[in-house]
Amino acid sequence: METIILKADKNNIKTVTDKAAEIIKQGGLVAFPTETVYGLGGNGLDPKAAKKIYEAKGRPSDNPLILHISSPEQLTPLVKEIPQSSKKLMEHFWPGPLTLIFKKSDRVPLETTGGLDTVAVRFPENYIAREFISACGVPIAAPSANSSGRPSPTRASHVEFDLKGKIDMIIDGGHCEFGLESTIVDLSSDKPCLLRPGSITVEMLKDVLGDIDIDKAVLTKLENGERPKAPGMKYTHYSPSANVIIVRGSDENVIAKINSMIAHMDKGLKTGVIASKETKDRYRADEVLVTGSRQDPAEIASNLFKMLRKCDYHNIDIVFAEGLPENELGLAIMNRLKKAAGYEIYDV
Ligand code: TXA
Ligand code: MG
Repeated sequence: METIILKADKNNIKTVTDKAAEIIKQGGLVAFPTETVYGLGGNGLDPKAAKKIYEAKGRPSDNPLILHISSPEQLTPLVKEIPQSSKKLMEHFWPGPLTLIFKKSDRVPLETTGGLDTVAVRFPENYIAREFISACGVPIAAPSANSSGRPSPTRASHVEFDLKGKIDMIIDGGHCEFGLESTIVDLSSDKPCLLRPGSITVEMLKDVLGDIDIDKAVLTKLENGERPKAPGMKYTHYSPSANVIIVRGSDENVIAKINSMIAHMDKGLKTGVIASKETKDRYRADEVLVTGSRQDPAEIASNLFKMLRKCDYHNIDIVFAEGLPENELGLAIMNRLKKAAGYEIYDV
């Protein structure tokens, strides 16, 4: 299949999104930018489109898709009820990087929700995403537009690398502002529960809701037999081919530990470090990949997946990543890093 790639900006957006909407109406797939990561979109009410999405990504079909809408009114027909707590969250954080889980209505096919009786809905802020969804006239089912298991794409070139030839079109809208997937909150049972941390932090959610449960899978590796509430959290994720190891502790201890591990490494192996601007000159690795400043966690978040992808680009065999404190945005950054590392962490 030929994949059309078109750049969209303020001047040509209507032409590009009309073309993309035509593809969606014919049952095809279009990757599009959002403020979090690129999504791989198909008609959210069409079971055949859901099937195509799973195939293109190589994703297990029990892992449900998020429905993207372009106005809050589009939510009502998709859900059984809109609880009071969700109204507050929508008021504060929609449009934006927050996905909410509701009991689904009969209009939403089980193929889209991976067989669940709940549905995840997100109203993104990115203007290209909104124009595209609105031109389609249907909710757009969209997982992150990467091959299953790879880091989520934050540039059109990442989508091209993973999915070129497997999907109909990519809308290139430049890099994604936040760079980590949306925060997911489940509102389908009595107490709101965080299923995936993101740029809307636990602290921000607590300010609005008072209190919120946190699914165990957000913080720790689950034991055999335990299931995360977001099925996607059980799969290995975000992994470059390189072996990722997190080292956590004071700056001096982390730098010393990483340099000592590198020094003892088989010389045939190519080494990397995912570091901050403040520490980057201290490492003796083959490649030092800088995510951003410690003073600016948002910068680190927005570059993390790009750096994980760079590990493959540089053929790195083993990459050490500096751990961060797990509060505010650090919780989401560490959640992705831990999954990339298969929870291999040294505390020093
Ligand atoms: O920022 C984002 O959320 C991006 C952009 C494209 O919007 N999308 C995204 O989708 O990250 P995906 O499919 O890569 O991740 C969706 C996560 C998965 O872990 C999935 O299991 C969970 O949401 N999920 C979806 N529907 C759910 C449901 N009804 N109940 C529990 N978890 C659900
Ligand atoms: Mg994903």
